[in-house]
Amino acid sequence: MPGVTGPSDYSLEPRRHPSLKINAKEPFNAEPPRSALGASYVTPVYLFYKRNHGPIPIVDDIHSYSISISGLIENPKQLFFKDIKALPKYTVTATLQCAGNRRTAMSQTRTVKGVGWDVSAIGNAVWGGAKLADVLELVGVPKFTGTTNSGGKHVEFVSVDKCKEENGGPYKASIPLIQATNPEADVLLAYEMNGETLNRDHGYPLRGIVPGVIGARSVKWLDSINVIAEECQGFFMQKDYKMFPPSVNWDNINWSTRRPQMDFPVQCVICSLEDVDAIKPGKVKVSGYASSGGGRGIERVDVSVDGGKTWVEASRHQKTGIPYISDPSSSDKWAWVLFEATVNVEQSTQIVAKAVDSAANVQPEKVEDIWNLRGILNTSWHRVQVRVGHSNL
Ligand code: MTE
Repeated sequence: MPGVTGPSDYSLEPRRHPSLKINAKEPFNAEPPRSALGASYVTPVYLFYKRNHGPIPIVDDIHSYSISISGLIENPKQLFFKDIKALPKYTVTATLQCAGNRRTAMSQTRTVKGVGWDVSAIGNAVWGGAKLADVLELVGVPKFTGTTNSGGKHVEFVSVDKCKEENGGPYKASIPLIQATNPEADVLLAYEMNGETLNRDHGYPLRGIVPGVIGARSVKWLDSINVIAEECQGFFMQKDYKMFPPSVNWDNINWSTRRPQMDFPVQCVICSLEDVDAIKPGKVKVSGYASSGGGRGIERVDVSVDGGKTWVEASRHQKTGIPYISDPSSSDKWAWVLFEATVNVEQSTQIVAKAVDSAANVQPEKVEDIWNLRGILNTSWHRVQVRVGHSNL
């Protein structure tokens, strides 16, 4: 592919910030400490979780970099970086969350397969780039098209990285064409993150951003975009990132019985406390993030200091000092919401948080009920065990 290549080893990886907790070195998978993550509405790039399936691609020459757009369309084209940049630029504040976030806690119930993530495989960034709907218009697919004249119904993103799961082939994923051509869905071909040029870890020079959908569909280091009749048949669509019931194990699994996961369910996490925290009796600040998929807002976050018997409602905000209202006209609809409650804790206990989204979906109480063999979508009530000490704290 012109301009960018996917290396087959890890000798030319970018530098990363030392505060990241490394969950797998090669491919590089790391997350920030939860206290740092919860400290800002927009996650700094250096702290943003990094989720890779192969070595990080290298751009040799940005001027010769191009993506091909082809498949079941009238007017296939090769677009150079400058062609993408010449389109109207949009900035979208959107939360990206790996479907495997909080997997480590799920594996405590029963073993699951996958990189062990604590609670920080999520981040909120301001993505800048062209709308995919505008790019598709350039190749003859009008806005709000669900099926092209030649039968295209899905948009496949293909990268250049070399992934073991694809037998050395690239990472790929698809989204429905109707989502891709809807300008309101805010699907971007992004070249900026938080106002800076996208860095190598996050997809330089160009990545897809699919707001409201699990991170696995936001393909980094784009090589080509294909309009296809069926959804992408790649490993990460068909043999991974699917939600199975607790009864399915590695002996009876039939991958074709489930749809690829797209929207993310409602989620919230306490970032201000760790299980190991010892605190003084009295007032304690409980804060963290809440988010939901599909552009749904956060209607409520409840906090309990008695393991879930009684609850208080937390305050919510996106921008500091401005109370949040779950309404897309006055909030960032694709972005997480930070919450905070001050509670009284007199003895060692379990502090719990649960969120309710604008469709009144609520997080499940127990991880056991949503256990699945790949350990995805652990959105059970978030619990932190705190120890109250009366001296030397
Ligand atoms: N794109 C490519 N090309 N290769 C990958 O390994 N990982 C996906 C997605 N896009 C991946 C990819 C997954 S599983 C997630 S959660 C997000 O990228 C992570 O994006 P980030 O590393 O920028 O946080």
